[in-house]
Formats: sequence, structure tokens, C-alpha cells
Amino acid sequence: MEAIQLKRIVLGVTGGVAAYKAAELVRLLVKQKIDVQVVLTEAASHFVTPATFQALSGRPVFTSLWDDRIDNGMAHIDLTRDADAVLVAPASADFLAKVAQGRADDLLSTLCLARTCPLLVAPAMNVQMWEQPATQRNVSQLKQDGVLFLGPAQGEQACGEVGLGRMLEPEEIAEALEGQFQPKRLNGLKVLITAGPTFEAIDAVRGISNQSSGKMGYAVARAALEAGAEVTLVSGPTCLTPPRGARTLPTVSTQQMLDAVEAEIDEADIFISVAAVADYYVLNPSESKIKKDAHILTLELAPNPDILANVTSRAKPPFCVGFAAESENLEEYAELKRKRKHLPLIVANAVQEAIGTDEVELLLLDDAGTHTLQRADKLTQARRLVEHIAQLYNAQHP
Ligand code: CTP
Repeated sequence: MEAIQLKRIVLGVTGGVAAYKAAELVRLLVKQKIDVQVVLTEAASHFVTPATFQALSGRPVFTSLWDDRIDNGMAHIDLTRDADAVLVAPASADFLAKVAQGRADDLLSTLCLARTCPLLVAPAMNVQMWEQPATQRNVSQLKQDGVLFLGPAQGEQACGEVGLGRMLEPEEIAEALEGQFQPKRLNGLKVLITAGPTFEAIDAVRGISNQSSGKMGYAVARAALEAGAEVTLVSGPTCLTPPRGARTLPTVSTQQMLDAVEAEIDEADIFISVAAVADYYVLNPSESKIKKDAHILTLELAPNPDILANVTSRAKPPFCVGFAAESENLEEYAELKRKRKHLPLIVANAVQEAIGTDEVELLLLDDAGTHTLQRADKLTQARRLVEHIAQLYNAQHP
């Protein structure tokens, strides 16, 4: 399957307090250059008004099957025919029940029945309503029918109760929607990824680290998840939220990162070493905070183990991908690193670009030569990289 560029979606909004968050969702989708046609149910219009959605989407909003703005009187057909997907957010318990039964008694349920494109739902309801056997029956029926579920999430609810049933946040829905339309090139594969910097303690509060933000590693984890992989993310200290669906193992020092990788590596089909690992650690760090005085302080540094080289030197290594950030002779040094670490693929970028920036140009070096990934944001680059990895992996494992 090729990636589908989402151009137009129908966003259905059903009756629930979370309906106000759908307005932000429209804003985010429009920002992603997706044309959004909003349809409100009658119940939704008690929570939010068509005027808000019309202003945000730049399109008229529909609520009724009998809308005379559509010439042939077939709003349910006309609204979905050129849509790439129908997304319902929030999707109430009543709406799920209706669609599970194939009922069509208002515009939104009728267009869901008449659609030819995928249907995605982001449920939002009280925890008891979500857990009722009747709702769960409807959910499994819908899943069996191919409806895709985004959430719900766990947390505090509008009614004050806590549990499963919260709608995903608009950013998460927008991300998940895009992710659903990526090709599933790593379906069924287990991918282990290291990301972020490592931190080597000097004393109880200070340490040596580097400026890696972890953005590239987290983007690679998200791209691998979107491609259908089961992802374990071994992360150094970062300020980032791990992608939904990744199993994240937080670590601090290089030794901890190595231990986490060694505990997981036997399970992995693919290992992607994105972390900016500290090359040295401090010998005998102080357990208490070192007090300053007028003398020169000397730190003794000892070399850290090379996590990636440890993995590639195993008897049966998984498919391994390294990263190389270089300040000069990018291609030459990266290729030397690839050979030295016995890697089928290394990703090279200029160190001036590698740290903290959002757009990067990458070089992929493999046995076939050098491939340039033209400058783009890190998620786009991560998706391109995952595609390249999948090609090489599948060629090795026909
Ligand atoms: N790496 C690792 N463990 C280390 C050092 C590096 O796993 N202790 C991995 C990185 O995650 C990256 C690759 O090895 O995928 C290249 O890292 P880099 O630090 O650039 O390579 P070095 O061999 O340390 O070379 P340099 O002299 O440039 O630091």
C-alpha cells in the first residue's frame, strides 16, 4: 500500500461535552492542508454551534438530511463521495450503537452507511458507559466491520469520574489520523530504538550530557509504529512525550541504556540506534553535591561501551541502523563508521543541523551507495527512513 495523502475528510461531531475540542481538531487538520467538511448531529448542536465550525473550516456545516443547500437532496451521498475518510470525534455511545446496527436515521449515521471510504471514530463517554457490555459489544462489532478506533484515553472525565472514556486530545487525533494512512511496511516486526542523549553523573545534581533533543529518535519510533511495527523505545532523558503505542523504557546513563538494550535485543527484528550516546563517563562520581572551592577540579573520564557495536558483534544481530552526526567530511566519515560498526545502513547528517532543529537533510549510506533525503521536517524524514529500512530488510528476508 502506498501512503495516502489525506486531502479531504468529513468530520462528524456527535453530542458530548468533548464536542468543543472538535473545533481545535478542525483547526489542526486545516493547518495540515486537509479540507474538512463538518457534519454535526442534532445533539452536538446543543454543545457547539455550526458557526464556529464554518468559520474554522471555511465550509458550510451540515446537520440535517433534509438540507436544501444540496440540489439533489442527497447530502448523505454528496458529502462523502470525494472524501478520503470519515472521522467522528467525539463519537458518543449512542452513535457507536447506531453505526454498529447499520441504522441511518440522521445525516451523520446515513452518510456513514453510504460511505465508500474508511471510517475512524474517537469515542468520548463516561467510563461506565464505555465499559457497559452493550457498548463493548458494539465496539467489537465495529472493529470487525473495519471501523478504526482512535482511543479512548484514560483520565479525569467531565463528570468528575476517572477511567477509560476520555476523547484523545485534538493533536493526538490529528496525528493518529495521519498515521492510519501510512503504508504498513513493517507489519508484525519488532523494532527497538534508542533515542535522546545519555547523562553521566558528576555528583548528586551535575553531569555530562549533550544537546540531543531526542526529536529524531521519537520521530523514527512514531514512523515505525505507523508502519505497523511493535516498537520499544529506550530513551535517554528528554522533554518529549513518547508516541502513543510505543513501549518506552526511560534510562539516564549509557550503562543503563546498554542494559535496557541487552534485555530487549533478542526480541528485535530491527535495531535503530538514534541515541547520542556519551562517549565517556565520570569515574567515581560523588554521591553528594560537590562544594565549590578555589581549586581546579579534575574529572577522570573512562570510555563508555559502544551500544551499537555491542549489538552488531552478536552472533545473530538484528538488522541494525546507525546514525552519524559529523562536523566535516560527512559522507566519508559516515561510511567509515558504517564499515567499522558492520552496519547495513547508516544515516548521516551534519552536526550543525543535528541538534534541536526541526528540518534536516539526511544521507542514507548502504551497500548500494548514498541516497539523499532532501531537507524536510523530522517526521517526514523518519517516514522516508522507515520506508528505506523496510526495503532493505525485506530484500534480506524475502
Ligand atoms: N553509539 C552507541 N554507543 C556509543 C556511541 C555511539 O550506540 N557509546 C551509536 C550511536 O547511537 C550512533 C552510532 O553509534 O548510531 C554512531 O555514533 P558516534 O558517536 O557518532 O560514533 P563514534 O563511533 O562514537 O564516533 P565519533 O568519533 O564520531 O564520536
